[in-house]
Parts: sequence; structure tokens; C-alpha cells
Amino acid sequence: MNNKKAFIFDLDGVIVDTAKYHFLAWQKIAQALNINFTHENNELLKGVSRVRSLDIILELGNVHASQEDKNKWLIQKNEDYLSYLVDMDESEILPGVLKTLQLLKEKNQGIALGSASKNARPILEKTGILSYFDVIVDGNDVTNAKPDPEVFLKAAQLLKIDPKDSIVFEDSVAGIQAANTGEMVSVGIGEETILHEADYIFKDFTEIDTAFIEKLIN
Ligand code: BG6
Ligand code: MG
Repeated sequence: MNNKKAFIFDLDGVIVDTAKYHFLAWQKIAQALNINFTHENNELLKGVSRVRSLDIILELGNVHASQEDKNKWLIQKNEDYLSYLVDMDESEILPGVLKTLQLLKEKNQGIALGSASKNARPILEKTGILSYFDVIVDGNDVTNAKPDPEVFLKAAQLLKIDPKDSIVFEDSVAGIQAANTGEMVSVGIGEETILHEADYIFKDFTEIDTAFIEKLIN
């Protein structure tokens, strides 16, 4: 048995609480277009690319728009989102994440980022955890968005570890489905009612202990 595994982390909503900033930025766009956009609707956007997210919002409001307008809103959304990240530092790392990264490093495991975001690297830099990651696969590196498993398969491949020896931490339904389709172990971080397709579910990383990580490794 290979006891070096690939531990692949989603970023938004798993490592940092940026899901709330994505929501606020999309809500501004939705409001300007008179589209009612709720927290419940927002679940559909988690793990989904920026371009696809806008399409989902427009579909919710039954709004048809030109490519020119869409491009303008995509830029607006990202500028607004980035304005929330200006003062970002290590205090925005979600509870228990750092401890888990340290444990995995001590145990010489493969660590990767598997995110749909094109803003992943600056976020890892600002929060001071870039050096934990052996491999980063983000929205700039993939053509197929989650629930397609491409982002996670690429991460495992770059770590030279089999998909079946890979574990994915995800807060989105699309991400859990991607991990499952890729035949990886899926660990949901969040609400059981939403992430019920995951192999394991925890509220946050403070619930993940050494014994659980050791079980995954062996
Ligand atoms: C995902 C988020 O991680 O990245 C989505 O869950 C977001 O909400 C997507 O839309 C793309 O991120 P970005 O930073 O490239 O707009
Ligand atoms: Mg996420």
C-alpha cells in the first residue's frame, strides 16, 4: 500500500472564508439588474467558475445580455471582490486549516490546491500559506469546471499520485461531485444537508483530528 497520499484542498470556503466576499460581490451585480439573489441561490455558485456563475445569476432573473455587458459585469464583480481582499492576512485562514496543513507536512504527504478561482495564488500569498502547497491547480489551468474532475485529476497527476489515493476537501456540491467522479475520497466541509454526497462531512477543520488523517493515510 502506498502511504503517501494526495491531499487536495479547495480554496474558497475551505481554506479561507472568501465565499462570503464572492456572495457580496455577486449580490451587487444581481441588485443592479433587479435579480433576487439569495444565500440559497449562492450554493449553486460555489465551486463554479466566474463566467458560469454570471450565467447562473442571469438565468435566475431570466435576463438576456450581450457578451459586451457580460464582460463588463465580470470585470465589475472581480474588482469588487478584490476590494474585499486588500487587507487579507493569515487571520482569514479558517479554524483548524493551518494545523491540518502542518500535520500533513510532518507526515510527508502530497499537498495540492484544486480551485476554480483565478485569484488563488495571491490569496495563498497574502495568508502566508503558499509554501505548504507542492502543487497548485487553479482556474487558470483547467478548461472544464467542477463538477468535472479535471482540476483534481490534474493535481493528483502533478503530485504523481493515483486518483484513488487522493483525498479532496470541498465546501461545494459541485466540488464533492467532481471528487466522486474522479474516484477520490471526498471530504465535505460544511453542512450535512448540503454536502450529503460526500464520503465524510465535517463542520470545519477543528473537527478533523490526527486520528482521521492517519486513517486516510493508511
Ligand atoms: C470558486 C468559488 O472557488 O472560484 C466561486 O467557489 C468562484 O464562487 C470561483 O466564482 C471563481 O473564482 P474567481 O476568484 O476566479 O472569480
Ligand atoms: Mg469552495
